[in-house]
Amino acid sequence: MNKIGEGYYYTVYEMSPTRVMKKETSYESKLAKLQSWYGNDSRLLEEKISHLEESSKKSIALSKRLAETPELKAVLGNPMFVNDSEYEQDKATLLESFLDQENFLPLLHEYIQANFLLWAFGYGDVVHNFTFNAGVSVVTNKVILLDFNELTQDKESIAKDIETQKWTNQASMLGLKRKYPDLYSQVEALFGSGFNIDNVDKYWASRC
Ligand SMILES: Nc1ncnc2c1ncn2[C@@H]1O[C@H](COP(=O)(O)OP(=O)(O)O)[C@@H](O)[C@H]1O
Ligand SMILES: [Mg+2]
Repeated sequence: MNKIGEGYYYTVYEMSPTRVMKKETSYESKLAKLQSWYGNDSRLLEEKISHLEESSKKSIALSKRLAETPELKAVLGNPMFVNDSEYEQDKATLLESFLDQENFLPLLHEYIQANFLLWAFGYGDVVHNFTFNAGVSVVTNKVILLDFNELTQDKESIAKDIETQKWTNQASMLGLKRKYPDLYSQVEALFGSGFNIDNVDKYWASRC
């Protein structure tokens, strides 16, 4: 299988023109990534790895449950788990591929709506790295959320992230600010009008 992507937790392979398989990365690979982010302090690295292990396991278990909700299946790319952490998913073209295209803002609008749908079932994304953790499904042509490692059921923490506009300090927005400053302002405005406390209160758990 062709490798088409890699994050901290998963290496992603193309199984067919429409499906990917997401395999967990090795302990050594996780450690090497953490080293490149945080340096060589072995106690700090151990702390980080065990903290991330715990939060990822929790988040993936949540997504496994979420994927059983018929209304959410499509927006999560029809995942099919092969064990506790590894899964197949619809293949997507990452949102970063659309940054210089006219339809980027409508796609971002769709991304925000996808997040509202998660909120409606009492789940929220904690990171908002929309450029590489979301994409347009090659199966449905709709925006799907790819990364299951960053989910929470804690409304308060979602509200806090919104208050501090946490997304402005994440890789996607930082990259946009550097490379596409005009688009950055438009994305900031769109996120501000979508990701706000009124909408959290409006949507959160409204379909539980
Ligand atoms: N369904 C998919 N279709 C195409 N590429 C994908 C898909 N899922 C993940 N990827 C690629 O693999 C990378 C890592 O996958 P992701 O689910 O974000 O795992 P991690 O939790 O390790 O960040 C993504 O940033 C993206 O580049
Ligand atoms: Mg990711």
